[in-house]
Amino acid sequence: MIIIGFESSCDETGVALACTEKGLLAHALHSQIAMHREYGGVVPELASRDHIRRILPLTRQVLEQAGLGMADINAVAYTAGPGLAGALLVGASVAQSFAWARGLPAIPIHHLEGHLLSPLLADPAPEFPFVALLVSGGHTQLMRVDGVGTYELLGETLDDAAGEAFDKTAKLMGLGYPGGPALSRLAEQGDATAFDLPRPMMHSGDLDFSFSGLKTAVLTRLKALEKETGTLSDRQRADLAAATEAAIVDVLSSKAIKAMKQTGLKRLVVAGGVGANRHLRAHLLKAMARLNGQVFFPPLDLCTDNGAMIAYAGALRIKAGLAVLDGGNHAFTVKP
Ligand code: KG4
Ligand code: ZN
Repeated sequence: MIIIGFESSCDETGVALACTEKGLLAHALHSQIAMHREYGGVVPELASRDHIRRILPLTRQVLEQAGLGMADINAVAYTAGPGLAGALLVGASVAQSFAWARGLPAIPIHHLEGHLLSPLLADPAPEFPFVALLVSGGHTQLMRVDGVGTYELLGETLDDAAGEAFDKTAKLMGLGYPGGPALSRLAEQGDATAFDLPRPMMHSGDLDFSFSGLKTAVLTRLKALEKETGTLSDRQRADLAAATEAAIVDVLSSKAIKAMKQTGLKRLVVAGGVGANRHLRAHLLKAMARLNGQVFFPPLDLCTDNGAMIAYAGALRIKAGLAVLDGGNHAFTVKP
């Protein structure tokens, strides 16, 4: 079966084609980053309007890429949530219209399930079961994944998500939007040991996270430095960025390793936008080598939001006989 997938939950319009037998066939993406940059963050109204503009040209593009026509599509998958309401409606409306016009099933996909299963698009792909570290702009969770549709929440953030911690501290430092990649680039020139930042809940004994205190700690350091020296030097800015990144990566890695020990599993999968962070990748690769375990990441271009993960999750659900059609509710243990 061939599935077309639509993603429009935030600031990326993604359309893709996946096959239950051959995997991903084609995907196309339009990022709205340039449009939102001048506002310092995502403007929901502008996001929705841009999804409307992009979604049909992207659909045409993936069909051309794969050399297929509308008549070759057997099912439609789309991101049902969580995300910006207006933005989600664009993908849902297009997907349901497409499905209705052609008499096809429309399969709602939980956005996080898309992220969670995206490392299966990597080569080599992980086998079930595995521990998943889901780190996006809106969520930070550790899950035990036994198969498609069988997810157990092991721990999650009690306040800010890891991506949010990157974005908010980057904003405090005047680094613009999106903050994660900008802060990470600046951190490459800095010395992480120059500032001693807290590792919130690192030794809490459970698998939960908290990042809001880190943001406050960075703000306090910034204010103190500004009082001392007026404006921060480039060196100080890079050092503070490196120390922030190191604090976030330390907490994420130590909790992920704790989850591996607690479950006894040897495979770790990292998904979501923060999974693109080079420091996190290097840190986890080293730690897993020490533990005789394996860590898997989605291909870099599929870490952040995309249509490929939605089409692919639709294909995997169909294959597993778990394609809940519209009106149904996926058994996904995360809150909407
Ligand atoms: O998964 P995603 O594209 O969207 C959500 O579902 O939220 O994740 C976006 C988040 C943003 O917070 C962004 O700053 C962060 O991922 N991000 C990064 C990097 N690339 C994206 N954070 C740290 N380092 C990166 N290289
Ligand atoms: Zn996402």
